[in-house]
Amino acid sequence: MAERVIEMQGISKSFPGVRALDQVDFYLEEGEIHALVGENGAGKSTLIKVMTGMYTADAGEIRVAGERVRPRSVFQMQEAGISTIYQEINLIPHMSVSENIALAREKTGLFGRIDWREARERARSAMARLGLDLDVDQPLNRFSTAVQQMVAIARALSLKARAVVMDEPTSSLNEGEITNLFRLIRDLRDQGVSFVFVSHKLREVFDLCQTVTVLRDGRLVGHYPITELDHFSLVSKMIGRDARGILGRHRDGTDKGERKRFCELNGIRDGRRLQGVSFAIGEGEILGLAGLLGSGRTETLRILFGAEQPEAGEIRLDGVVTRFNYPREAIARHLAFCPEDRKVEGIIPSLSLMDNIAITNLPRLSWRGVVSRAKKLALAEDYIQRLNIRAAGPRQRINTMSGGNQQKAILARWLSTSPRLILLDEPTRGIDVGARAEILDLIRRLAGEGLSVLMVSSEWGELLEVCDRILVYRDGRVLASLVGEEMTEDRIIATIAGEGRHA
Ligand SMILES: Nc1ncnc2c1ncn2[C@@H]1O[C@H](COP(=O)(O)OP(=O)(O)OP(=O)(O)O)[C@@H](O)[C@H]1O
Ligand SMILES: [Mg+2]
Repeated sequence: MAERVIEMQGISKSFPGVRALDQVDFYLEEGEIHALVGENGAGKSTLIKVMTGMYTADAGEIRVAGERVRPRSVFQMQEAGISTIYQEINLIPHMSVSENIALAREKTGLFGRIDWREARERARSAMARLGLDLDVDQPLNRFSTAVQQMVAIARALSLKARAVVMDEPTSSLNEGEITNLFRLIRDLRDQGVSFVFVSHKLREVFDLCQTVTVLRDGRLVGHYPITELDHFSLVSKMIGRDARGILGRHRDGTDKGERKRFCELNGIRDGRRLQGVSFAIGEGEILGLAGLLGSGRTETLRILFGAEQPEAGEIRLDGVVTRFNYPREAIARHLAFCPEDRKVEGIIPSLSLMDNIAITNLPRLSWRGVVSRAKKLALAEDYIQRLNIRAAGPRQRINTMSGGNQQKAILARWLSTSPRLILLDEPTRGIDVGARAEILDLIRRLAGEGLSVLMVSSEWGELLEVCDRILVYRDGRVLASLVGEEMTEDRIIATIAGEGRHA
């Protein structure tokens, strides 16, 4: 029998108002890729933080390679060979790539000496191993989220870990980068490294993992060999009931015919990425943007929202040429923008769930400059219920909530402004299958009431499921506009691969 790299028994952990883990057992065998799955708030990240020494459990035992440990710090677990990549990337944004990788190794890094030439070489080769050739002297925040994630992975790998624990590592990677990452994980697995892998993308779980541990409401549901499960039975275990209600739903497929145009872009260029983007969004239309990372989708949303200025081209709302110098001008015209990176542009970490939802609505909730607490609470409670946000209560600090529930809070913030057009950048990233179906339903329902939706997603299946029409981007251009029968994954891939015609 394979050796158990990590063994956890009877782990419990409580926070004020919530029992995040209740007597959970978990084990990781040498050379396996072990999935940890469950709904948002089920306790996955908490279990990982206990496993990696970030949190101390209230009860339970942890063994690494058979030895009892009482982890008191992340460094201690790293020394024992357990390395981790958290859900929220925990790198130092203004330091360079090589500094970020080097500091992971040097627990005395701030005091001791680091050989920077060697560090740079090591960083370069670590990144090259992931198939990325980049200037490791550049500060990390110059790079995209995807690249930053890769740096976090490179850092963990540079620690020569026996086990690497990854909390949603693929959530900001594109298809190509995910393929690279999986190849790398499999290679390392074959060399005896073990992995704990958390993902809400169950296709990845079936693709990559041999074993699955399911958590629900802080309790262990069970450990299973992947071969004993299929998609349906796994989701059923996660949600604790028959999954039929939430799987296999599709767009009704009936196109609602001619719509009144709400918003129109003509020849938008930004002097960098966008090479002349033109399209229109009808009232109540759900328009998807597909394409690879860096193809210009996010830039389009940012220009529409006034977060960036176009160099050429025009935007029309209700047929009238409009220019937004600042997002607040876009908000005043009933646009809303739910950004891709919740940590940087999204949550306000020190505020409560309630305040995070209400923040875009303060004028509406105030009288003579004084915000009504009662109205704020009512608004928050309404959206907590509508989006089924799981928290100890509206006053819980948002940065102590689970990742998926933070994401829902940001969605609530923008939906609560009653927008006419909502711009969604990766709206279901980090959201569990059940909640994802609920959110897509809500989007559809709101579109039925006239809300226009412009949605970027790297999950093409999701676009195919919810959109009325899909635009395919490549290199800052719209290459194709797909409707009806043309809306297939094959067609999207073919267009991106260059078989499509310019629209
Ligand atoms: N530092 C904290 N303070 C208070 N509550 C916390 C803290 N960390 C986690 N919790 C609570 O513990 C529960 C489990 O959260 P956890 O982050 O482990 O969920 P998760 O399974 O990782 O969910 P997700 O899929 O959304 O990331 C949640 O109810 C969360 O609000
Ligand atoms: Mg989590």
